Amino acid sequence: VEETLILVKPDGVARGLTGEIIRRIEAKGYRLADLRLVAPDRELLAAHYAEHEGKPFYEPLLEFMASGPAVAIRAQGERVIEGFRSLAGTTDPTTAAPGTIRGDLGRDWGLKVQQNLVHGSDSPESAARELALWFA
Ligand code: GTP
Ligand code: MG
Repeated sequence: VEETLILVKPDGVARGLTGEIIRRIEAKGYRLADLRLVAPDRELLAAHYAEHEGKPFYEPLLEFMASGPAVAIRAQGERVIEGFRSLAGTTDPTTAAPGTIRGDLGRDWGLKVQQNLVHGSDSPESAARELALWFA
């Protein structure tokens, strides 16, 4: 069965939205196979976001992701990678569609990085790589 890494990012945990986000994942019918609260160090974040190194939002992104604990979830289900990204909505929470996690619960806070509540792996290769990092 397909699996993906979902993160409730530090803004989601700090705002007390972990339960609401997990509720939506479970309501969709995906299985929670593993779950942990993680305070990621710089090494983990640099490996996780290697594809974005050098981009203008890279340093603010790592700083934001290190600002508090995140909840890492191993979720399973048929086409869960695509399905969770659909549940999450597009990257910018201001324009993410209503009905999605980012569209319903996120907004622009005027900061240097999109604080958009969740992460979801974008391919089977990313999922395998990211799951190995967060569930080492
Ligand atoms: P993830 O599920 O977190 O990977 O989101 P994504 O796939 O929708 O976005 P992407 O992988 O392109 O970028 C990773 C994260 O960097 C995003 O979730 C945002 O937090 C942040 N980010 C990406 N693009 C921008 C941008 O253009 N500006 C700002 N300020 N932040 C960005
Ligand atoms: Mg991404």
